[in-house]
Amino acid sequence: MKPILDKKYIKNALKKAKIILHKGELVIFPTETVYGIGANATNPIAIERIYRIKKRPHNNPLICHFQNLQKIQNHFEMNEVANKLAEYFWPGPLTLILKKKSSSTICTNVSNNKELVGCRIPNNPIANEILKSVPFPIAAPSANMSTKLSPTNIKHLDNKLRDKVFFIDGGDSHFGLESTVINVSSNDPTILRYGSVTIEQLKKIVPEIYFFNKKNNNQLSPGQQIKHYSPNIPLRINVKKVFEGEALLNFGKNNLKSKIFELNLSPSCDLNEAGKNLYNYLHLLDKNEYKGIAVAPIPNYDLGKTINDRLNRAIANDSS
Ligand code: TXA
Ligand code: MG
Repeated sequence: MKPILDKKYIKNALKKAKIILHKGELVIFPTETVYGIGANATNPIAIERIYRIKKRPHNNPLICHFQNLQKIQNHFEMNEVANKLAEYFWPGPLTLILKKKSSSTICTNVSNNKELVGCRIPNNPIANEILKSVPFPIAAPSANMSTKLSPTNIKHLDNKLRDKVFFIDGGDSHFGLESTVINVSSNDPTILRYGSVTIEQLKKIVPEIYFFNKKNNNQLSPGQQIKHYSPNIPLRINVKKVFEGEALLNFGKNNLKSKIFELNLSPSCDLNEAGKNLYNYLHLLDKNEYKGIAVAPIPNYDLGKTINDRLNRAIANDSS
């Protein structure tokens, strides 16, 4: 087996990725959050391929990835709050929803025919090299089938994606949870999705920021309402007891026990470690031989908020 991050492997893979992206086809690549499945954001046919292969509804817009701030400014309006957040968190796991300039060449199917597009500058050497090698931004959702768990390692890829799409193996994702999505297009900055940047970190830079409440606005972030991030077997969260036949996803030290199999997100109660392990462990526990996965309570602050958000959406029933 090739060693992970072998220089020659990466060099050849980057060369190939560039050619594939230029042809309007798809590439799966690592970012610091999760793996993305990317295409030329200025080519509507390429973008359509992403929706089709992921079975993703068209009303769930894609995030565009850029090499640097200048390239974002070529396509988007940036207000004061956007500039502040960009300066502090980019490159990194933050997505800003920005208003397109009329001159932008980003195609409309990236964002459900709307003017607002999610943008970020990733912080991963492979992602950054890819973005440097092509003259266009790359639209890339997480590289999972719609509603399923995001991959944080090539091993997590769905067989269909693995067989059909060229991928670059960049090892384990650094954060293991997706980017935090913030709407900065109005004067009222709101968090649309909890992610790898915590609300506590954000409030230090923009104290007035708050979490978007579904009741306030149903339209802006359709991806927020649907069942998402779910394993194939049943999941129970905040459990006080593990049932017969269930595997356990534990956190910290407690009396919970599974007779079958268990993993601990962080025995020392470190939420960063838990965030990094979450999808990997859910992937490992998602086996038909288990009746389900019982998840221990996770504290609801810092990255714990993001972890609880993902767990709650994994158990949601609605798939609208
Ligand atoms: O960390 C990440 O964000 C990863 C890596 C690959 O960058 N990408 C990712 O993309 O998680 P995706 O498509 O799985 O999630 C994007 C989220 C969705 O919840 C979507 O609704 C929201 O961002 N979003 C994207 N564009 C938007 C827009 N124009 N308006 C509102 N929400 C948007
Ligand atoms: Mg996703």
